[in-house]
Amino acid sequence: MNTNQPCPYGSHRVITPLGALPQSADVIDNTMVCQDNEILIDVQTLNIDSASFTQIREACGSDPEAMKAMILSIVARRGKMQNPVTGSGGMLLGTIREVGKALTRDLKPGDSIATLVSLSLTPLKIDKILSLYMDKDQVDIRGQAILFETGIYAKIPTDLPADIVLSALDVAGAPAQVAKLVHQNDAVLIIGSGGKSGVLCAYQARKSAGPQGKIIGLIYDESERADLESLAVCSQIVQADARKPMEVFSRVMEASGGVKMDVTINVVNVPGTEMASILPTKDSGIVYFFGMATSFSRAALGAEGIKSEARMMIGNGYTAGHDRLTLDLLRESPVLRGLFQKRYGAEAK
Ligand SMILES: NC(=O)c1ccc[n+]([C@@H]2O[C@H](COP(=O)([O-])OP(=O)(O)OC[C@H]3O[C@@H](n4cnc5c(N)ncnc54)[C@H](OP(=O)(O)O)[C@@H]3O)[C@@H](O)[C@H]2O)c1
Repeated sequence: MNTNQPCPYGSHRVITPLGALPQSADVIDNTMVCQDNEILIDVQTLNIDSASFTQIREACGSDPEAMKAMILSIVARRGKMQNPVTGSGGMLLGTIREVGKALTRDLKPGDSIATLVSLSLTPLKIDKILSLYMDKDQVDIRGQAILFETGIYAKIPTDLPADIVLSALDVAGAPAQVAKLVHQNDAVLIIGSGGKSGVLCAYQARKSAGPQGKIIGLIYDESERADLESLAVCSQIVQADARKPMEVFSRVMEASGGVKMDVTINVVNVPGTEMASILPTKDSGIVYFFGMATSFSRAALGAEGIKSEARMMIGNGYTAGHDRLTLDLLRESPVLRGLFQKRYGAEAK
């Protein structure tokens, strides 16, 4: 292990390049010995970030054994589950094994938690991958992980199943930001609204915009329409490919009667969707890029190229109270909860 003093941000575990923090490091030390300011976790499930899981699936031709091998090799090489192509991670479900003696936490061995910091900075060791779930971007493993002093986590509540809690908390930053960005009567576009964060954002957008707000849900595949319709929160649902900005622009303008959006939320898991988000947004509006495949240069230079002044936000996975807000959405809407249960619950593959 790096001989530096234990650091609250985990820099003592960085191997290369020295001086970096764990998220941007190439390799971190995944020795599973709990330092005084760390928490050691026995891991049950990894929820791999959607952009990362999609990239791994495509690179492996959807072969589960090849995907498992790729995940094992990334973790063996880097000491963390950070996809080298997308740079993204995910989060994990596990039980507390040990709490470092310098820490005061509301945790004891055996407590079930989900980490709320990215796997892209979390020291991880996988002994074995037990199962890979193609439809919910998860793998069950036998292994251990370390949470740093500044690492946040949520205790798994007793009133919701752990698997859907894990899925929802993975994207908790998105609906919580929607609650902060969307105001009464706003026109809101959600690109990727049939996906996991998409349905949470659509639901929260309706709550925040109220009955007079206009919520447009953009889906890629018609198969996602029924689930989204069942929530009854979108004013209109349009189908388009977000990699085709002019197609998106004309569908959205058609649906809104020519009015541009106050807030656009991008929760897509593929690259090349920046301009589809910026084009239909007012100059005074906000584009919130939550998708991990977002390119800073495409967004910044593309906005300049069309003379757009829309404010653009990087979708930080954390915002205060995000875990509580997201789980409360599942608590208050039986339809949303049923949808999560069907897609990410125990019976999902
Ligand atoms: N910022 C953060 O901290 C953070 C945290 C977690 C996740 N993320 C990122 O947030 C994004 C969404 O995550 P998620 O878990 O909600 O993913 P998800 O459930 O896979 O949803 C992604 C959605 O995007 C749609 N989509 C794919 N290609 C599209 C296209 N060309 N045009 C329009 N829609 C398209 C998908 O439709 P199909 O299913 O039909 O392909 C799906 O509905 C991912 O990029 C993920 O990496 C960010």
